[in-house]
Amino acid sequence: MSKILIVDDEASMRRILVANLRREGHVLVEASGLAEARALLVREDFDAVLTDQKMPDGSGLDVLRAVQEEDATTSVIFLTAVGTVELAVESMREGAFDFLTKPFVPDAVRTAVARACERTALLRENAVLRSTVRKLEDPGEILGDSLAMQTLRDMVARVAGTGSTVLITGETGTGKELVARAIHRNSRRVRKSFIAINCGAVTETLLESELFGHEKGAFTGADKPRAGLFEAAHEGTLFLDEVAEMSQAAQAKLLRVLADGEIQRVGSTVTRHVDVRVLAATHRDLKDRVAGGQFREDLYYRLAVLPIHLPPLRERMDDLEQLCGVLSRRIAGQLNQSPRLPSQAALNHLRGYSFPGNVRELKNLLERALILGRHSELQPEDFPLQSIPPGRPGLDHELTVEEVAEHLPERMDLKDTLARIERALLVRALERADGVQAQAARVLHMSRSDFGYKAAKYSIGVPVGASDGLERP
Ligand SMILES: Nc1ncnc2c1ncn2[C@@H]1O[C@H](COP(=O)(O)OP(=O)(O)OP(=O)(O)O)[C@@H](O)[C@H]1O
Ligand SMILES: [Mg+2]
Repeated sequence: MSKILIVDDEASMRRILVANLRREGHVLVEASGLAEARALLVREDFDAVLTDQKMPDGSGLDVLRAVQEEDATTSVIFLTAVGTVELAVESMREGAFDFLTKPFVPDAVRTAVARACERTALLRENAVLRSTVRKLEDPGEILGDSLAMQTLRDMVARVAGTGSTVLITGETGTGKELVARAIHRNSRRVRKSFIAINCGAVTETLLESELFGHEKGAFTGADKPRAGLFEAAHEGTLFLDEVAEMSQAAQAKLLRVLADGEIQRVGSTVTRHVDVRVLAATHRDLKDRVAGGQFREDLYYRLAVLPIHLPPLRERMDDLEQLCGVLSRRIAGQLNQSPRLPSQAALNHLRGYSFPGNVRELKNLLERALILGRHSELQPEDFPLQSIPPGRPGLDHELTVEEVAEHLPERMDLKDTLARIERALLVRALERADGVQAQAARVLHMSRSDFGYKAAKYSIGVPVGASDGLERP
């Protein structure tokens, strides 16, 4: 059963079409013009839209554009009395699915609608498949047999089905994103998208438009209207990583969507309804940020309906052996090696370490040991753990921004590259500051705690030649 929107200013024409298509078992919704169609498109999902070209308040092409703005998988069929070749060509070029002329042959309309719905279903299925593929690439299950991890898995299972907002806290590399994905995977939203955004990685103004979308002309550079991530995640899950870094303005908007499920694109007064489950994460103490006035208290309580805290690895060393086992096998597989495990001596060596980068750091250490270790078991010396500053800069020499852009290779991973640049700058600043983090932080205009967080994230402090702290896929 498909849902079809019929847009035509002539009521009699709509009636004929409805009668004709109802026999196919479709759900039919009528709009008498562009404005009405727009309002319906915002509120409801359609499989196909059948539109007239000439209407008092807009054209079929306007309807087509409105459809594409809301959900480009919806197929649009033109049905018009002014069937010029030019219009047919233009509408097809803009992405219309089919073009029919009035007076119409009932059979031709039924066939066109059926094919349009088929195309829509295929496109949507494709999107689901894509997200399934992403899921397959997912790091997978939450490992760890310690009591803390068992309780965590239990919590994730119970929380997943509820639809409530969850606040996930913990140090870098403890698995906050892993937990967020697990919640989505175990929820009834699993067939819809899981979208993640790092709120700390985009500028204030950009973050608002990323999250809520914008209208054409809302700011310089906004040459097209755009839906934001809340609209994209409709009926799915939106993961707000580093939520503590949100601006006050974005916090106010987030509060509104959590309270009423309503958003407004930047520069627009139209209210749109979205059904999105929000999961948030931060490595900071959010209560502290509330006390300091940087984070809204009301928002804090909305987010922390269900709080989940991930303990650092050093507090659950019981997990180390299992983690090493599963992760080495997984990494060895990716490296096309036969699996090798750390020896008892190596495990003891690792147990004495504080793991500021937590599980991510352990993964990177294991990868390095598997590449460089020469024995059938991984040895303590394969895991260099001293915390001395000089790391390996990610770039061979300093490049200007233009030079970097000039050298854009055939393909590159922007996120990974930016992370490498960030790491290289941190390392350089730390070297210049003779290993004094506070001083290095000042050079980069960062707070001491931000610097410490990033240094841990990138495993800065691992000696020369060691893992560069960046995660491999
Ligand atoms: N309990 C766990 N079991 C298996 N893998 C884990 C676990 N915890 C973390 N990892 C792995 O460690 C890496 C880091 O995890 P993740 O990205 O979820 O950390 P995070 O808490 O979001 O860190 P950050 O604050 O730096 O963003 C990932 O590759 C993840 O798969
Ligand atoms: Mg993360």
